[in-house]
This record gives sequence, C-alpha cells and structure tokens, in this order.
Amino acid sequence: MKRRNPRSRNGMSMHRHLCLTFVLLIMAGPAAAAAPDGRELYLRHCAACHGENGYGGVGVPLALPDFQHTATDEYFIRTIRHGRPGRVMPSFTRLSDEEVRAIVEHVRSWHEGPRPAHDPAPVKGDEKRGARLYREHCAGCHGDHGQGGHGTGVTFSRPRELPIIAPALNNRGFLAAATDQMIKQTLMRGRKGTPMVSFLEQGLTEKDIDDIVAFVRSFARNPLPHNEVPADEPPLLMAETDRPFDEVVEAVKRAAVGANFRLIRVQPLDQGLAPPGQEDQRRIIVYFCNFNFLYQALAIDPRVGMFLPCRVTVVEDGDKVRLLAINPTRLSRLFNNSELDRACAEMAEIYANILDEATL
Ligand code: HEC
Ligand code: HEC
Repeated sequence: MKRRNPRSRNGMSMHRHLCLTFVLLIMAGPAAAAAPDGRELYLRHCAACHGENGYGGVGVPLALPDFQHTATDEYFIRTIRHGRPGRVMPSFTRLSDEEVRAIVEHVRSWHEGPRPAHDPAPVKGDEKRGARLYREHCAGCHGDHGQGGHGTGVTFSRPRELPIIAPALNNRGFLAAATDQMIKQTLMRGRKGTPMVSFLEQGLTEKDIDDIVAFVRSFARNPLPHNEVPADEPPLLMAETDRPFDEVVEAVKRAAVGANFRLIRVQPLDQGLAPPGQEDQRRIIVYFCNFNFLYQALAIDPRVGMFLPCRVTVVEDGDKVRLLAINPTRLSRLFNNSELDRACAEMAEIYANILDEATL
C-alpha cells in the first residue's frame, strides 16, 4: 500500500506539522512525566505501617498469598479510600485515582497468580445461627461486637502469641470495602501465616460459613457508635493571665506536681536556636511526666511518644502571659485510634486543670 504524507509536500504544512507536534509534546510531556510511581507512593504513604515489603507492622501484612488471593483490586481501592475509622488505618482522600491504582499495582507485584474478580453476589445465610457460631468461633479474637483486637499491631499490650491484631469487622471502612464473597473466601481459606485459620479445616461446613457471613454483614445495620472527635476540637489549649511571668511558671510546676507528674525540665523555647546564653527566658516550656500514664499511653499506641513528655509553653506577651498546650483530644483523630480517646480525654482534663490553676 502506498502511503501518503501530505505534510511533507510543502513548507507550510511542514511548519504546521511541527507546531502541532510541539503542542502535542507540551501536552503529553508533563502528563507522561507525572505517571505516578506506585512503589514510591507506597513507601511514602503505607510502608511505615505495613512494612516496606508488605510483611506488616502496625498494619496487617499485605503480601501474604492467602490475602492476595481473596482481596480484589476493588477491595484495595476502597480500603485505601475509606480507611478504617478509629482503627489507625487512615483514609486517603487526597490521592488521585491514578495514584491509588499505582499503589495497588505495586502491592499486587508481590504476588504472582490471578487476581480474584469483584463478585458482588450476596451470600445468603441465617443471621441468628451465624451470631451463635460467631460467638463460639470468632468473638475471642474479633470481639463480641466485631470491634477487633486491642492495640494497634506493634504495641506492648497485645499478647505475644498474636503477632497480628485481629481487624475490626464492625467497621464502616471494612464493611464498605469487603464483599460477602470476600468474607466468605477469607473464612473458607484462612490466611496462612496469621492467626486467622481456615474454618473449613476447623470443621465448619460451607452452610455454617454462609451463616457467619450473614451475621458479619448485619454489623452494617448495627454499627458501633464510633466516638469521632468533633471537628471543632481546637488543636491547642490556651489560657492567658495578668499574673507575673515567674509566678505563672511556678504555678504551672506546682499544678503539674499536684497532678502526680514529675518535673523534667524547664527550657527556653528557642534553646538550640539562639546562641547559648542569649535564649529568651520569657518564652519557656515546662516538661513533666508521669511514668504510669506514659506506659499506659504507649501501650495503646507507640506513636504518642512524639508528644511526650507532657509540656506546657509559657510566653510573656506584653503585659499578658499566655499558656499553650497541645490538645490531646485532637491526637486520637490524628492517629485515627479510638482506643486512645479515653487516655487523651483524661490528659486533656489534666492540661486544662493545670492551665486553670496557673491562670486563676
Ligand atoms: C485466633 C484469632 C482469630 C480467630 C479465632 C478468627 N480470626 Fe479472623 N482474623 C484474625 C487475624 C489476626 C486477622 C488478620 C489476618 C491478616 O493479617 O491478614 C483476621 C482476619 C479476618 C478477616 C479479614 C478482615 C480484614 O480486614 O481483611 C475476616 C473477615 C475475619 N478474620 C473473620 C473472622 C470470622 C468471621 C471468624 C470466626 C469464624 C474469625 N475471623 C476467627 C484472627 C482471628
Ligand atoms: C498509620 C498506619 C497505617 C498506614 C499509614 C496505612 N495503613 Fe493500612 N492498615 C493499618 C491497620 C492498623 C490496618 C488493620 C485495620 C484493623 O485493625 O481493623 C490496616 C488495614 C489495611 C488493609 C486491609 C488489610 C486486610 O487484611 O484486609 C489494606 C488493604 C491496607 N491497610 C492498605 C494500606 C495502604 C495501601 C496504605 C497506603 C496507601 C495503608 N494501608 C496505610 C494501618 C495503616
């Protein structure tokens, strides 16, 4: 076949052709360069919890063959988008669809073999009977109400023999992501390498499993009240007073000691930034600690270590003295860990009392 190339016939169309190519290059160039790198995105957003190679950590392993065999791409995408509210696993709402896809492709690259197809067909079962079976076979790990195991993966509180924490099944994020078929496959197969065993091998029948799936699905109708932190919870607790600076600092120390804390140190805000000896002594941080509380909080979630020891900042500002503390109630939301809520509420109360005592 004879090919025609009209563009090369005269200078004018050649010129147009070049312009067009140029424009196309400009349009295609950045788009091609921006093709998301799944590995890089995974390392940035997921690896800290799920491990560089998907072997797990704070988060459950993602590389295990049995998991990869039952999880659909759809399940991954929805899990990344919804997260698991209150269960540490964040929701990633700002990643583009392409970025989420690229992450899924990266996670998939750890496993050879076919990916399961998305199958929305509901599993029919006897929910009441399923509830009985659930109490007998599942509640010990996943909790009476499907609230999941305690702790957050790598915590001091989890029993040593359970290297992986049982996920919450009564969780909006999980229920939005998992199909009946996936739950069923998980129960049939189990996940080798984790405490989650195959319940067929445990002697349950497929009918038993269908009943349990029906019960697990019923969680969607009876969600646990999830104590989400109100959106208007301020990031900082603040107070101000007309009392003299030195008096306020002493009052903060007294109040902390009175609340069973040990003073650790008082340090200028700009220590290490200003030349030694020239720090601003009217802008200081009082550090204090209560070891019981510290261990308790760390056992719930090691990441609270970032905000410990406890501290109150005291700043002289004209003829006022201002006090600032991080609002611990915001931490639970930051960490997406509802187990922290109680400890954080307690700590918020203590901070509020210290600020009160120092400013009254
Ligand atoms: C010995 C503890 C244990 C028992 C008993 C147990 N599980 Fe699990 N289950 C786990 C753990 C741990 C995982 C997480 C496995 C992983 O990391 O992939 C899990 C995972 C799951 C998952 C997948 C959840 C997700 O987020 O991917 C489902 C569904 C599930 N279990 C349901 C059940 C049901 C229903 C029963 C009762 C028939 C049951 N499990 C019994 C420990 C247990
Ligand atoms: C701050 C820690 C953390 C980060 C960051 C995180 N996850 Fe998770 N992820 C978890 C935890 C914890 C769970 C288990 C939820 C539970 O216990 O109910 C989980 C669960 C999951 C599950 C469900 C696993 C299963 O067995 O069904 C998938 C899939 C997942 N995460 C993927 C990701 C991906 C992909 C990223 C990055 C985009 C990511 N996670 C980022 C902590 C995290």
